[in-house]
Amino acid sequence: MSAPPATAPRTPRHVAIIMDGNGRWAARRRRPRMIGHRAGARAVNLCIDFCLERGIGALTLFAFSSENWGRPADEVGALMKLFLNALDREVVELHRRGVRVRFIGDRSRFDAGIIARMDAAEGLTSGNTGLALSIAASYGGRQDIATAARALAVEVAAGRLRPEDIDEAALAGRVALADLPPPDLFIRTGGDLRISNFLLWQLAYTELWFTETLWPDLDAGVLQQALDDFASRERRFGLTGEQVASASATDTMAP
Ligand code: IPE
Ligand code: IPE
Ligand code: MG
Repeated sequence: MSAPPATAPRTPRHVAIIMDGNGRWAARRRRPRMIGHRAGARAVNLCIDFCLERGIGALTLFAFSSENWGRPADEVGALMKLFLNALDREVVELHRRGVRVRFIGDRSRFDAGIIARMDAAEGLTSGNTGLALSIAASYGGRQDIATAARALAVEVAAGRLRPEDIDEAALAGRVALADLPPPDLFIRTGGDLRISNFLLWQLAYTELWFTETLWPDLDAGVLQQALDDFASRERRFGLTGEQVASASATDTMAP
């Protein structure tokens, strides 16, 4: 593989992760799926620690998809309890470590107790400048794009925007995480090779990396493998390899 330009960022600015494989982790131990979700919560902490240590600016974690609401009621209920407990347990410590927490997705589908804790976590940590941690919960990429399209339609209807002003930048400014650089690196654990309705718009030029490792088995070695692979890749953004080699900095080419 040809060496990427010396000026290319070696460390991703933004990592987005599908945390998958909790159910299979539990099944292998002949335990209920919920045991896998609980073990998965520990891996979340490990992953946040790793990003803080490596100076990664933004981490986005897919915790619960808009489609996951369709799982058996007892699993959804147990996940909600786990979510609530995690919010109660972890947020103050995240704040102490300078993490800015936010939630993306359709918040209105959660119980009032969870919504209140999400709001409180965002409020408490909003001034932090360390890791930008985004939790995608009740999130779907299609829903994200539809919501952005609706916001644009509202502005057109109100006379604040002309249809001809709607371009990629207008939509990009209204999807989730619009204030962050798009993910440089996508990681999915659990061995399945798909996006499962995660950040469809934002992943357009993201480097994809998949591992068979089940989410609860995550360790720093697996994350390091992903970073090493990322560092060895040449990102072309539609240009030629020669253009990339002569560019002064890869990230100045990023769309
Ligand atoms: C990911 O693990 C967690 C959620 C989707 C909430 P899964 O629960 O999807 O685990 P598998 O894919 O069934 O092993
Ligand atoms: C994606 O995993 C969503 C999360 C990890 C939160 P799923 O387990 O829901 O994805 P599919 O159903 O295998 O595509
Ligand atoms: Mg799964």
